[in-house]
Amino acid sequence: MQLLIATKNQHKLAEIGAILAPVTDLELIGIGSLPEEPAEVIEDADTMEGNALKKARQLCDVSRLWTLADDSGLEVLCLGGAPGVNSARYAGKHGDDHANNLKLLQEMAGRSDRRARFRCVIALAAPDGRSWHLEGTCEGVIAESMSGHGGFGYDPLFIPDGYQHSFAELDAAVKNRISHRAVALRAALAAWSGVLSDAGNLPATMRP
Ligand code: IMP
Repeated sequence: MQLLIATKNQHKLAEIGAILAPVTDLELIGIGSLPEEPAEVIEDADTMEGNALKKARQLCDVSRLWTLADDSGLEVLCLGGAPGVNSARYAGKHGDDHANNLKLLQEMAGRSDRRARFRCVIALAAPDGRSWHLEGTCEGVIAESMSGHGGFGYDPLFIPDGYQHSFAELDAAVKNRISHRAVALRAALAAWSGVLSDAGNLPATMRP
């Protein structure tokens, strides 16, 4: 069964591909493989749920393919959950990871409670108008300085609970096992294997 992944973020696409790789019944399609480039989705909802559902629905309606979307972000406890839904544009310019990390370090200067979590909302849209969503989280702390070159976004500043190194320093396989995206996608496969099986006449062997 074909499943469109509604993201232009190549890092997210790679992570989703790696996490879903064991599910051989799914053929993942990137936006770049669509016959025409779809219009940009304006992420103007005030929640990750709203943006994930909007991305999945808009791309599903254009492609007529079952579509999966991810909206995700970092929530820092002592900052009242910021940057949250604004994670990609925290410092102003959308997708400027380095500027976002510098701003976060500035906001965290002198703070002793550095607890934070990544949150990922996965939405699934069906061509017949139905949609679903659920979330996954990964708890950790914000480091005092950036380290590592792997991953993307706030990975150089995020140390997951139980580890001494940032996501950007840890092996990609470790991140793809414990991340908010991995947790959400595993939950999605478990919760939605029935609808996906019906849609694609798949055997019920979808769980990785
Ligand atoms: P979105 O494209 O609106 O979902 O924005 C997600 C933003 O949240 C990214 O630009 C990153 O700043 C941050 N983010 C989400 N997931 C991750 C991750 O796995 N690592 C680091 N940053 C992330």
